[in-house]
Amino acid sequence: MRLLQTRHELNAWRRESSGRPLHFVPTMGALHEGHQQLLRRAAQPLAGGPPPRVLLSVFVNPLQFGPAEDFARYPRDLAGDAERAEAAGAAALFAPSLEEMYPGGEMALTRVSPPQELQRQLCGHARPGHFDGVATVVCRLLALVRPDRLFLGEKDWQQLLLLRRVVADLGLPLQVQGCATVRQVDGLACSSRNRYLSPQEQRQALALPAALRDAAAPCRGAATPGERADPAALVAAVRRRLEDAGLAIDYVELLQAHTLRPLPRLEGLALLAAAVHCGPGRLIDHIFLMSRSPIIAIDGPAGAGKSTVTRAFARRLGLVYLDTGAMYRALTWWVQRQGVDPADASAVAPLLQGLDLQLESDGTGEQRVRINGHDVTEAIRSPEVTAQVSTVAAHGCVREALTRQQQAMGERGGLVAEGRDIGTAVFPDADCKVFLTASVAERARRRAEDLRHRGFAVPPLGELEAQIAERDHLDSSRAVAPLRQADDAVELVTDGLAIEAVIQALVDCFRERVPEEAWPEPTGQGPRA
Ligand code: PAF
Repeated sequence: MRLLQTRHELNAWRRESSGRPLHFVPTMGALHEGHQQLLRRAAQPLAGGPPPRVLLSVFVNPLQFGPAEDFARYPRDLAGDAERAEAAGAAALFAPSLEEMYPGGEMALTRVSPPQELQRQLCGHARPGHFDGVATVVCRLLALVRPDRLFLGEKDWQQLLLLRRVVADLGLPLQVQGCATVRQVDGLACSSRNRYLSPQEQRQALALPAALRDAAAPCRGAATPGERADPAALVAAVRRRLEDAGLAIDYVELLQAHTLRPLPRLEGLALLAAAVHCGPGRLIDHIFLMSRSPIIAIDGPAGAGKSTVTRAFARRLGLVYLDTGAMYRALTWWVQRQGVDPADASAVAPLLQGLDLQLESDGTGEQRVRINGHDVTEAIRSPEVTAQVSTVAAHGCVREALTRQQQAMGERGGLVAEGRDIGTAVFPDADCKVFLTASVAERARRRAEDLRHRGFAVPPLGELEAQIAERDHLDSSRAVAPLRQADDAVELVTDGLAIEAVIQALVDCFRERVPEEAWPEPTGQGPRA
């Protein structure tokens, strides 16, 4: 592993192995298992790409310490850090001096100040100026390192939120990846400041994770608002436990996890966070509470490649895959089989009575589609069904019946639903909404490939393009649940992107909304029980 101490050395190292993605882990040193885990994660190749180069920085940043804080005695151990970083897969360690980082001196420095709405709660309250110092040093490091991806721990959740916001607001060209808190076997979150604690204080500090865990336990799986605990009671329970353990409380707060606004009732993703003083150390910890498992809405026009990527994404995140397009296709198949005119709503409506429409996983992650006892998995992909599905799906009675069924399937969450109106009509409260699209030409090319692959005749590309444009028009101009990007959806244009890159973009988007600690990636494959 290379030790780089100047900007000049850093630049030379960057030039040596360009062409591979650069993943960056900024730290203040005194590395522990949590940092090592960040480095291991950063070393993993993404989206089938080449192995990344991992750079770690060690810089104890004076700007983020208050006058009465521990800057002078903050643990410094560059030799030990270099050993740990190398063992965890870092290719280089950047350890600049104060002069290298701030050549004009601290006073002359341009400062970056994240929005007050995210700064004033939690740690910002007791540590004025702290997050300005963090944002300033990280922006400076990002400008020097120019990484493709920045890795930060969810342990410092407020810091992660603020830095994501800074990167978004300044339009910095990189992805921020949060990684779950790493804990010691006894439950205490790994932190460089744990070194300040005596063995007796370490034991005392265990009350912090235990209080959060025990207060949160009854909320897990509470399905209805009535079953959910009152926020004030939760905070009071944590405070009592911490006081009983003799810890001096800085704060205990229950907030909306992304806006950090107070929560009048437990809803969506909540953050129960606390900071305490234990002997010479100040410790922070938190736990997330979710009122239901996550729902992801993936909408977009026909032929954007939604099914393939959504299925793979669902498998990776341990979510159930709900292909609502397949439900409309199955109904269209049934309408055609009954000899009913697909355009005649009054003739289609009776077919919805007692309809038995099932999506079943066949155990290998593939989905079988059954309607009224018929397995139509393959049949619903025929050009005949494709030609009429928009007409059938545009009837109000059809939308209503299938939307109701889809909402029932998603009652407890834990699914990713794909379709045209998921984020707008079926699950308007989805945790993460993506509008997946591609140009008409690209979609026509993919459709031709798909037809060829399935053994159907392939019309000329121009004809396919016209069909796709017509389908877009029908889908987006129909009166009921038209195809429309939800206001809060992220647009993902897939032209020129490999499937793995689209899946990675979906995972990144999901992770901006749902932290790993709240919904860890399963170790096995497939949806959770
Ligand atoms: O989390 C830290 O260690 C620091 O706040 C960071 C991000 C390295 C900035 O100094």
